[in-house]
Amino acid sequence: MKNRSLLFKDKSILITGGTGSFGRAFARRLLTENLCQKVIIFSRDEWKQWEMRQSEEIFNHPKIRYFLGDVRDSPRLARAFNEVNFVVHAAALKQVPAAEYNPSEFIKTNVQGAMNVIDEAINCGVEKVIALSTDKAVNPINLYGATKLCSDRLFIAGNSYVGARGFPTMSVVRYGNVLGSRGSVIPYWKKMIDQGATSLPITDKRMTRFWITLEQSVDFVIDSFSRMRGGEIYVPKIPSMRIIDLAEALAPGISHTFSGIREGEKLHELMIGIEDARHTVEFDNHYLIMPEIFTQNPITLKTFLMGRSGSSLPEDFSYGSNTNTQWLTVEQLQKIIQPFLHD
Ligand SMILES: NC(=O)c1ccc[n+]([C@@H]2O[C@H](COP(=O)([O-])OP(=O)(O)OC[C@H]3O[C@@H](n4cnc5c(N)ncnc54)[C@H](OP(=O)(O)O)[C@@H]3O)[C@@H](O)[C@H]2O)c1
Repeated sequence: MKNRSLLFKDKSILITGGTGSFGRAFARRLLTENLCQKVIIFSRDEWKQWEMRQSEEIFNHPKIRYFLGDVRDSPRLARAFNEVNFVVHAAALKQVPAAEYNPSEFIKTNVQGAMNVIDEAINCGVEKVIALSTDKAVNPINLYGATKLCSDRLFIAGNSYVGARGFPTMSVVRYGNVLGSRGSVIPYWKKMIDQGATSLPITDKRMTRFWITLEQSVDFVIDSFSRMRGGEIYVPKIPSMRIIDLAEALAPGISHTFSGIREGEKLHELMIGIEDARHTVEFDNHYLIMPEIFTQNPITLKTFLMGRSGSSLPEDFSYGSNTNTQWLTVEQLQKIIQPFLHD
């Protein structure tokens, strides 16, 4: 794996959705550790960009640029990608119920937007693109997940269109719920408690979820930039938690109301399904879902892995939030959520 300080040295990095939870954390890391030459924040809303600049000194760093634009708008992307080396595609619409009622809007942003990012990355000579995916894209049961699955497939296939030049290489990073991100359950429950709620709503007491912190997701994306060959999906090994344990950690002793599983919601999330596991390689801290084409021939597989030796998975393996071997206890959750309780 390439040294972090060299990986982005002299590079311009553009983050679509740069004002979002991930984008801000990623930009902050690049700037505080002085990892790159330029960071470009690409998003639609001028207010969120203004608010970002006001919120932290680091977001006024001389190396940061703010670019208004919509991933639905190809010419604007082409303008933004001028002289950009690496792109992290984090822009998305992601609220599950909103997707059910506004499917065409989600398709325009999450699917058409992905197509535009791929086309313009190729046209503009970008070197590497990482697109962020979610566990909801695996065997999706809601439109948000289905659009992210389409996006994953587009980025994987996009590697076939780059021609003899061989770049951009495009890969996907997939992970589960991000602790405390915009629209996540912690801010929602915290607000209820601050307003005097005496019980917390839970849809189903059996529900489990994967969990990753923003900082871990940033680390994993940086590591994936140094590992990527193009066409693969990187999945970090992260712990699961029971939603009921999270409620207990947030408000010990408080009662819970159970409203029943919601439309488009799964009891447990899946990060790698059985079918994908057949072409997945396991490493110490992550899984690598290989493009199937490379796993069919041992020579191409070896070339693809470039000396890295992982292990193949058992025939019936799947990586689900309920079958995970790593679990967060109530006590661990209490420690992890502390920073989110004092905002
Ligand atoms: N948060 C999680 O739990 C989680 C888990 C797994 C994967 N992911 C994935 O990680 C990525 C980032 O998530 P996040 O939590 O950072 O999301 P977020 O906080 O909701 O931010 C989304 C960003 O996308 C921008 N955006 C939305 N539509 C756009 C468009 N049409 N053109 C350009 N920018 C647009 C938004 O800014 P404007 O509204 O100003 O355009 C915002 O900057 C997403 O792809 C998501 O699917 C998130």
